[in-house]
Amino acid sequence: MLVQKENKIGETVAKNFRASKVFESYGLDFCCGGKKSIEAACSEKKIDTGKVLADLAMIQDINDINAHYQNWEPDFLVEYIINNHHTYVTNSISTIEHHLQKVVNAHGERHPETAQVQVCFTDLKNELLDHMAKEEKMLFPYIKKMCFALKNTLEIPAAPFGTVENPIKMMEAEHDNAGIVMKEISTLTDSYTPPADACATFRVLYNELQEFENDLHMHVHLENNILFPKALLLEKKMNQIFETL
Ligand SMILES: [Fe+2]
Repeated sequence: MLVQKENKIGETVAKNFRASKVFESYGLDFCCGGKKSIEAACSEKKIDTGKVLADLAMIQDINDINAHYQNWEPDFLVEYIINNHHTYVTNSISTIEHHLQKVVNAHGERHPETAQVQVCFTDLKNELLDHMAKEEKMLFPYIKKMCFALKNTLEIPAAPFGTVENPIKMMEAEHDNAGIVMKEISTLTDSYTPPADACATFRVLYNELQEFENDLHMHVHLENNILFPKALLLEKKMNQIFETL
């Protein structure tokens, strides 16, 4: 894919999801740090921008489902995020907690980092459950209402939060917080590398945590870089339509 150093990280992944693997391989954050240009993110981490651009150039243009996210209507994206990512988070928490408890009980003495991971995961769980509930009760229904209004030439629906920019800013800040806790878990586990003496449950747990992180990155990317810009644009468009009427 053809990418310039001025292109933003999030937009690049929005165009072609395979770019996320390149950014991940350099430790560049494509979801919460998605608003930075490739050049700015590289210079912050003292990474050779040219190398990253060369790797991005090797990626084939995509023709699978990921290419369509950008073309999906915001109301469909909302449904997809809830059914795919919110459901995954809710369903995977109890399994991870169960495995974490087993690992802490059996290996906590020799691997005290597992108890720290447990504390972090509890924080992450509480933050995410609270965050997703807010999205599902406030922001997402409003985005769907705006889509319905636009399709049916109705006036922009009244919002208890003023402009949609306000809840979006709040959700982005919460994404940043979740990203920080997830990063802490990644650091504590040495990027989910089980120790040599790890039992099967220990290894499964680290795989599950890695999967949880991958899902969270994609989830936040879809919201920060695709859904939220679409919602802001939709609100602007509706305001313009009704200003001219
Ligand atoms: Fe979110």
